[in-house]
Amino acid sequence: MTVRGLQEQPRAAEAGAEGAVDPRSAGGGGSNIPRHVAIIMDGNGRWASARGLPRAAGHRQGAEAARKVLRAAGEAGVECLTLYAFSSENWRRPKTEIADLMGLLRYYIKAELDSLHREGVRLKIIGDHKAFPADIARMIEQAVERTAGNSRITLAMALNYGARAELAKAVRGLAGRVSAGTLDPEAIGEAEIEGALDTADLPPLDLLIRTSGEQRLSNFLLWQAAYAELYFTDILWPDFDGEALRGALAAFAGRDRRYGGL
Ligand code: FPP
Repeated sequence: MTVRGLQEQPRAAEAGAEGAVDPRSAGGGGSNIPRHVAIIMDGNGRWASARGLPRAAGHRQGAEAARKVLRAAGEAGVECLTLYAFSSENWRRPKTEIADLMGLLRYYIKAELDSLHREGVRLKIIGDHKAFPADIARMIEQAVERTAGNSRITLAMALNYGARAELAKAVRGLAGRVSAGTLDPEAIGEAEIEGALDTADLPPLDLLIRTSGEQRLSNFLLWQAAYAELYFTDILWPDFDGEALRGALAAFAGRDRRYGGL
C-alpha cells in the first residue's frame, strides 16, 4: 500500500504567484475544490520565540493568518473552513496563555463580526464553548445567531473541542433516544452517528491541513477525517496565508481519491 502525498509541501514558486493558481483546473477537468477544509493551526509559539517575542504575539499573528486564510478560502469557493482554535487539551497550558487566548477571542469577535457578516460568513461553533468565560460564551452565541442566514462560506471554529469528547456526546445523545424509545438500537448506523456529531450540518471533510511540521491529528475531527486528504506543511501558522492555502488546494486537486475502491 502506498500512502500518497503525505509530505507534499508545494513551495510558493510551484503554487504560482498571488492569484495565479486556479485549483479548479489543477486536477484536470471538473471542480477539484474541496468543499470542506479543516486546519490545525500549529506553530504560533515557535514563530514568536524565533523572534524573541512572547507566545501571545504568535497567537495574535495567528489570528491575522486565520483572517487571511478565511478570505482566500471564500475566494477559492470552499464552502466550509473549520479552524482548530482551542482544543479541550489546551486548558493544560499556563493560565496566562489561556487568558491571552481568551482575550484574543474576545477582541476578534468584537472587531471582526461586522466584516464577517458583511462578507456573508456564517459562524458555527464545534466543541463545548460553554466552558468559556460567560461573556465570551454569550458573544459567541450572539455572533452565531447574527450570521446564521449567511451562505457564502461557513467558518466553523473548534472551541474547547476534542474529537473523542464529541463522539462520547454523540453516543450519549443516541443512547438517550434509545432509552426514550424513539430510536431502535438496530437502526444505528454511520448516518445516525454522523447526524449526532457537532459537524452534522457541514459538508464531508475533504482536506485536513496541519502547519508547523507536526504530523498528527491531535484529537481533531477523528470521525470526519476517515477519507479526508491530509496535507502537512512546515510553514508555521502565523506565516500561512492565501498563497499557502492555494498551494494546499493545488495539492488536493492533484490527489487521487479512491475511498477504498480501485
Ligand atoms: C498552536 O500553536 C495554536 C493554538 C493552540 C491556538 C490557535 C489560535 C490561534 C491561531 C489564534 C486565533 C484563535 C483565537 C482564539 C482568536 P502553539 O501555541 O501550539 O505553537 P507551538 O507548537 O509552536 O508552541
